[in-house]
Amino acid sequence: IVSCKIGPSILNADLSQLYDESQRLLDSGADYLHLDVMDGTFVPNLTFGHPVVKCLRTKLPNTMLETHMMVQNPIQWVSPMADANVDQYTFHIEPCEDVPLVCRKIREAGMKVGLAIKPGTPITCIEKYIDMADMVLVMTVEPGFGGQKFMVNMMPKVEWLRENYPTLDIEVDGGVGPSTIDICAKAGANMIVSGTAVIQAENPPQVIKFLRESVNK
Ligand code: DX5
Ligand code: ZN
Repeated sequence: IVSCKIGPSILNADLSQLYDESQRLLDSGADYLHLDVMDGTFVPNLTFGHPVVKCLRTKLPNTMLETHMMVQNPIQWVSPMADANVDQYTFHIEPCEDVPLVCRKIREAGMKVGLAIKPGTPITCIEKYIDMADMVLVMTVEPGFGGQKFMVNMMPKVEWLRENYPTLDIEVDGGVGPSTIDICAKAGANMIVSGTAVIQAENPPQVIKFLRESVNK
């Protein structure tokens, strides 16, 4: 019922060549791009923000862009990201005072709503908001850095979501690659973020194809 989408994370790409790297991933079969926005406060790392996303958007007018907002104040960046023509605004509920308000603002701004939870956040914290969301992101590493080890003990969250929301888009992010995709697919994830496993692959198209076939089988 839900369709499989592969969204590489460009976090560990050569960011001095952001457009070329993005195009390379799209040519390799990516369905969308997962753009990791970090503010140095919610996570101990910094990446880029709406000015960079906006420039990328002008060069990629038809690509689905998701911003994964690892920021302390999610409401602050809703309109700048809408102005950058982002398709989906995925934010963490942990620092957020008024989740329904942020969801509403995202929708009013014309974007899809993604709700993200860190590994330590139980699914019960997000349950009451799921009806306001287009997608739930279950983090499978502590947010902040690419190249970390996949946390298999997050799979019960995905399983619970899939059991209770058969048509919900469920995304996994962190340490996902050819060696961990089967368990994600089996748990019920259909939106697959993969960073280093795709970026550092010798043959990215082959990896993307493998990930897709693993979810679809
Ligand atoms: C981590 C980011 C992820 C990360 C994925 O904070 O949200 O999107 O870049 O990279 P890999 O697949 O290497 O874990
Ligand atoms: Zn991410």
